[in-house]
Amino acid sequence: MRELGKHFFIAAVCFLSACTIAVAQNADWTTIHNGIEWTDTEGYIVQAHGGNFLQHGDRWYLIGEDRARSWNPDVNLYSTDDFVTWKFEGKIIKNFVTHEALGNTRMIERPKLMYNNKTRKFVVWCHWEARDYSASEAAVFESDSVAGPYECVWTGRPCDTKSRDCNVFVDNDGQAYFISTTDENTNLGLFKLSDDYHAAVSKTLLFEGQRREAPAIAHIGDTYYMISSACTGWDPNQAKIATSDAIDKNWSPLENIGDRIAFDTQASSILTIKGTEQTAYIYVGDRWMDPDLPRSKIIMLPIFFENGKMVLRYYDSWQIDLKRGLIRTP
Ligand code: GAL
Repeated sequence: MRELGKHFFIAAVCFLSACTIAVAQNADWTTIHNGIEWTDTEGYIVQAHGGNFLQHGDRWYLIGEDRARSWNPDVNLYSTDDFVTWKFEGKIIKNFVTHEALGNTRMIERPKLMYNNKTRKFVVWCHWEARDYSASEAAVFESDSVAGPYECVWTGRPCDTKSRDCNVFVDNDGQAYFISTTDENTNLGLFKLSDDYHAAVSKTLLFEGQRREAPAIAHIGDTYYMISSACTGWDPNQAKIATSDAIDKNWSPLENIGDRIAFDTQASSILTIKGTEQTAYIYVGDRWMDPDLPRSKIIMLPIFFENGKMVLRYYDSWQIDLKRGLIRTP
């Protein structure tokens, strides 16, 4: 009887330990749901399209276009620590307020936020455009604090080049680049930025004549990856991927990635989440006009690497352990 009691005790301890481990392992999984509207902590729809993420301090910041009302979006900023709970940090660039042309003769698309470690300033590069897309310019804004106020540093054509759809990329050494669709949507222009991130100092044309836009770059190991789309306005199209061992040369030919309409998205950024066990990479895209511009969705998909290639699959929902950098799919 005593022996039986001992076995029962051991079995009970094992069972409880297994439960504890299961709970501990479950504790940090965050579920990302795609295809739904995100709401902020005050219950309003998150309006941050065509943007990017910046990790700063213990928070993640999401910058993007506020498409709630108008053709000329204000620029919104949100913060989160779990990619599910979104705190509205404010309109950091406002029509008619931040710049006199904004909302009159110019609008902003694809605002992208960076932190400059040398100057300790937050810098935004974006597409700075006329209503008919004839201006083909970029703009730069800067602030001492992430939530603003932001002041305009410069507007114009980088290296005198007509420039539209855009993104930024900050390499491991802090060197920043502005990359945009140039020359009437013909080429991608890679612009090296000055140390203060205020100016484009040199230009390299990539994928010449291939009419790519919505570029999103990640530097993973020794390889640069660039996802981009074709130019079909708000309609989705086949995303393509290219790789290189150098940011400004040696890019491979473009190859298809995802399904033929990029799961009804267009790339806005690639998120890098450094966990204690591994680094997770997340494709972030805009599902524009779903069913109208204000209700466009932000879609997040885990990136996998199979046989040396980047692979994207669609999941209505999937999980990430942000601390450990682990991904779990259904
Ligand atoms: C897309 C572009 C968007 C927006 C849209 C307007 O091609 O990626 O940022 O400019 O066209 O039609």
